[in-house]
Amino acid sequence: MKKFTYILATLSTTFLISCGGVPEKSKDTKKEKLEFSVAEVLEMVSKENDVTRTLYTKAIVGAGKKQGMKFDEDWQKEDVEAGPLPALFLRGIANDIRKSDVPLGLYLGSDFPINKANKFEGKQGELFKKIKEDRIPQHFYDEDQKVYTAMFADVAGAPACVSCHNKHEQTTKDDWKLGDVMGATTWQYPTDSLSYDATIAVLKAYRNGTKAIYKDYLDEIAAFKSSKKPEIGDKWPSAGGLYLPSPEVFLDSVRELASYETMTVLLK
Ligand code: HEC
Repeated sequence: MKKFTYILATLSTTFLISCGGVPEKSKDTKKEKLEFSVAEVLEMVSKENDVTRTLYTKAIVGAGKKQGMKFDEDWQKEDVEAGPLPALFLRGIANDIRKSDVPLGLYLGSDFPINKANKFEGKQGELFKKIKEDRIPQHFYDEDQKVYTAMFADVAGAPACVSCHNKHEQTTKDDWKLGDVMGATTWQYPTDSLSYDATIAVLKAYRNGTKAIYKDYLDEIAAFKSSKKPEIGDKWPSAGGLYLPSPEVFLDSVRELASYETMTVLLK
């Protein structure tokens, strides 16, 4: 019975995909104008990611550690009272996007990864060598996966990136420096151009992902048994205590930092 349900689920997924996505969206009769190239959209969402990732790393992880907060690979385990590492924060966003109906893929890799599963291979490995040299984003069509792909340098933008990676027991490189290209984010999307609505949907899926993983972190905190429970509100750890911004305050900051560039492209 289980097997049958599985086959049925697979069949209906295949059907959905071969029909071009989620039916109610594609039923639109009037043809939408394609306004943005996939490269433009992936550049935009990648900028949002840079802002979000640096804010989380500096203002939450870096500043939080100074106040005694902990961040750990096993942050989701019941007996671990810690928050997500930056890479796992990003993976949380990627997982949430995967659950949405926006066909955007996001992955963080490197040539010297802490986690072997994050090592670039094949075409992405080759392109990453170029990115390390000139830091210019790489755009290509991935024939195997049938997706447009873009790779952007992931730079050690905060001291916490460097110190944590250099000291990590599974590290494959212990002399990272501030400003180094430590890896790259790889983004994937199935079509070569997007309508205005589809573009907004991509940006929204990213922001929703940020909200979801940040909320997961706060939910973890709610279950902390120790007295080291940060107070959640409108203060940040830099205020000098166990404080964390609420999801709204955190996202307001992302919005403030990212919106100018994003709007410039959207209103081109
Ligand atoms: C507190 C520790 C810590 C901090 C801070 C940290 N990282 Fe990581 N990072 C890790 C760990 C652990 C992994 C592996 C996570 C996994 O996939 O299991 C990782 C994964 C990565 C990866 C994917 C390749 C790999 O090493 O597995 C990149 C690239 C990366 N980090 C870059 C950065 C950058 C850039 C920053 C700062 C913006 C940063 N990291 C901050 C611990 C850290």
